[in-house]
Amino acid sequence: MIVDTSAANRRMCHFDQHESVWLFGYGSLIFKADFPWLKRRPASILHWQRRFWQGSHDHRGTPEQPGRVVTLVPQRGARCDGLAYLISPAVFEQLDFREKNGYHRFVTELQFADNSRAEGLVYIATKDNPAFLGPASEADIALHISRATGPSGHNVDYLLELATALRELDAQDTHVFGIEAAIESLRAANGA
Ligand code: SIN
Repeated sequence: MIVDTSAANRRMCHFDQHESVWLFGYGSLIFKADFPWLKRRPASILHWQRRFWQGSHDHRGTPEQPGRVVTLVPQRGARCDGLAYLISPAVFEQLDFREKNGYHRFVTELQFADNSRAEGLVYIATKDNPAFLGPASEADIALHISRATGPSGHNVDYLLELATALRELDAQDTHVFGIEAAIESLRAANGA
């Protein structure tokens, strides 16, 4: 189901008085940084894991055939690697629109490679949002992704670009790389 979280996110004023804010990106925000940023650095957040469990009706799928994109799910002891962007709070208007299909801004602690830390924001689509699809096997997620496309492009490109960007960051993610391998097997089976 389509949802629009942008109005709720606009009311999130935690960093409004700050000159700049760290934004943690773990999905398309890693490989498609089409917003103004001041600095960017590899970073991680703890006790969250990346999962292709969120439906995409507006970017990598349609209302009739939603795609699958990543969100974060809580997991004690887990670490999610991504990219942190230092941005002006004014940029959130653009980001709220981009992430409107179920994602809410959450305050989180970011950890950088030199072990320094900072408070920042992350967009998470929790399991109670109407576009949440939830768990499935890597093979089923790969099949789903291979069939979906939307206004921002094919769902397969989202997966492959994310996997490439994670490798460039030297980030480990067995879930993303497992789905990538399942996509490659599907392509091989289809002679692509
Ligand atoms: C993110 O990249 O941080 C949020 C999820 C997405 O837009 O793919």
